[in-house]
Amino acid sequence: MSNIVNDLVEDYIRSTLKEKNGLLKELEEYAHENNVPIVHKEVSELLKVLLKVQKPKRILEVGCAIGYSSILFATTVGKDVEIITVERNEKMIEKAKENIKLANFENNITILEGDAQELLSEVEGEFDMIFLDAAKGQYKLFYDMVIDKLKVDGLLISDNILYKGMVAHDDFVIRRKKTIVKRMRNYLDYICNCKYLDTSLIPIGDGVALSYKQNERGEANA
Ligand SMILES: C[S@@+](CC[C@H](N)C(=O)[O-])C[C@H]1O[C@@H](n2cnc3c(N)ncnc32)[C@H](O)[C@@H]1O
Repeated sequence: MSNIVNDLVEDYIRSTLKEKNGLLKELEEYAHENNVPIVHKEVSELLKVLLKVQKPKRILEVGCAIGYSSILFATTVGKDVEIITVERNEKMIEKAKENIKLANFENNITILEGDAQELLSEVEGEFDMIFLDAAKGQYKLFYDMVIDKLKVDGLLISDNILYKGMVAHDDFVIRRKKTIVKRMRNYLDYICNCKYLDTSLIPIGDGVALSYKQNERGEANA
């Protein structure tokens, strides 16, 4: 359970979700059995809807893990999409490569191996969608490195922003998580008040922030 939504409500929402099949289902099972943190099921459905509406040609992801979300993106958008995903954990990288090959998306998904703090500045070109799903204490840092790479009309999606509810209220905060929580609050304060972004915080999964990028005058592209 995510801790941020009433269990009965979450059970109900989950009961409405279509079962995945094939490799994505196997990856969900693998992640569950091996404690690999992948996007929550209800968040994956939200992402699918957003992908179908936005039809991104280029996606940048920070936090690949075993490749589940990258494969979900590619499966949803189709063979025209290019996805660049960053991962620093060697075991995850190895597994992600295997999975991307099995999914037959080797031509669509590229893993940048190493720390996003070092690699993001090397990423070239613009993106229609950027998905932040890595170390929660570093989101503002990642944001600063990627925001100029997001096209006007593009979507920035930040996952796990409520962090088991701790970000929403001090009563939920565990002492050793104080710094991460403080940093996440600062990040959310920034993206919610930035004049170039329209941001909505959505309490599903572990919390998702959807930010739509406008131009310098606060306008969308015509
Ligand atoms: C929540 S998991 C990603 C899940 C994946 N997006 C999915 O839903 O299938 C976060 C991943 O980010 C990686 N990570 C955390 N901080 C990172 C950093 N600074 N640079 C690169 N990878 C990082 C972790 O090793 C972990 O595998």
